[in-house]
Amino acid sequence: MIESFDVVVIGAGAAGLFCAGVAARRGLRVLVLDHGPEPGRKILISGGGRCNFTNMKVGAENFLSANPHFSKSALAGFTPKDFIALVERYGIAYHEKTLGQLFCDGSARQILDMLLDLCAGAELRLGVGVREMSHDGGFVLETTRGVVKAGNLVVATGGLSIPKLGATGFAYEAAKRFGHGVVPPRPALVPLTFGAQDVAWMQELAGVSAPVRISVGKIRFEENLLFTHRGLSGPAVLQISSYLAPGAAFEVDFCPGLRAEEMLLEAKTRRAKAGLKAVLGEHLPARLAAHFAGAETRNMADLPDKTLRALGQKLNRFSFAPTGSEGFAKAEVTAGGVDTTELVSKSCESRKLPGLFFIGEAVDVTGWLGGYNFQWAWASGHAAGQAI
Ligand code: FDA
Repeated sequence: MIESFDVVVIGAGAAGLFCAGVAARRGLRVLVLDHGPEPGRKILISGGGRCNFTNMKVGAENFLSANPHFSKSALAGFTPKDFIALVERYGIAYHEKTLGQLFCDGSARQILDMLLDLCAGAELRLGVGVREMSHDGGFVLETTRGVVKAGNLVVATGGLSIPKLGATGFAYEAAKRFGHGVVPPRPALVPLTFGAQDVAWMQELAGVSAPVRISVGKIRFEENLLFTHRGLSGPAVLQISSYLAPGAAFEVDFCPGLRAEEMLLEAKTRRAKAGLKAVLGEHLPARLAAHFAGAETRNMADLPDKTLRALGQKLNRFSFAPTGSEGFAKAEVTAGGVDTTELVSKSCESRKLPGLFFIGEAVDVTGWLGGYNFQWAWASGHAAGQAI
């Protein structure tokens, strides 16, 4: 027997579950399929287990996309305030950590439980894959547990990040299957790797975190940079990674808001008897200050201006040339994805095949670190769930 639904949502992640809830609450018969053993696995590990579920200030400027305007309509249709209202209705306590980022006080599980409650009217089938898809008036899906038919199909299978949590390129194959383009997917919000020479000194600083201004071209972020045993990570580096073309260098200002050259020259008279390490230590974490001071043992008064100028410039404009990234295995998100050109921005519905929707991370809309990716999942899920 072939079962029929108004809508089949493939992918029980943030976007798929939210969309299913919106559609089910409108009285539609909804089936959610996921090949994984449980729903919302990324939600559970997000935000260090506390889920940074949105950001207080979200706009299209916080997203990367070949079409920077595409996300505007869906983001305006379901805002952070709307999601916060839901969180409050469910009595989930939360707090702002930094830069408008909202986290649960308790656990990410609370967000997943809320989503599951919201989509209680939908049927959820786990451990089910889709073998074939066709469209003949409606959608026909040959799944690993029988054939299902639906008037609408929502593809919410995310991107390629963290394959061990069930990530696949299903959305891209589905897009191509139904005549849509795909902007080449690439790891984003990902730690960066470096050549052996750089890694050698970075390893010595592994564990050191420093507030920096990081930039490539006109893009800049002020957050923490973390040295690791493999290279660089931390929020600043994850943010800039999304904007780096292969082989591109980026700059780090280790003394944001301070002209390091002037500070060092001034210290030469003001703190003539102090060592370089001590002076740098007033502005940098101790181990980083020791690294930049190197083997220098002279007092500030004895250091040539030229040396201090060169060091100051280095501190304000340190150029890093990564060799690559830690890839999809470590990337928090996937940039690129289903091309937005043939999607209606208000609903995420296909212009080529009405009834077909692409939402969430599968789409070529990628948020900054800080709750923006979940807000896109909620907003795009809401847009599709309302439009079906
Ligand atoms: P998501 O990947 O969540 O869900 C896709 C679903 O589709 C999965 O359940 C998967 O099993 C299923 N699927 C895949 N292929 C399939 C197939 N072939 N057949 C059937 N099912 C299939 N964002 C944020 O805003 N705040 C945060 O705190 C964090 N923290 C964070 C931490 C870590 C470690 C990661 C990896 C990511 C984050 N993110 C984040 C990003 C955020 O998790 C991500 O953007 C959203 O989960 C995307 O939601 P989607 O529903 O689009 O995809």
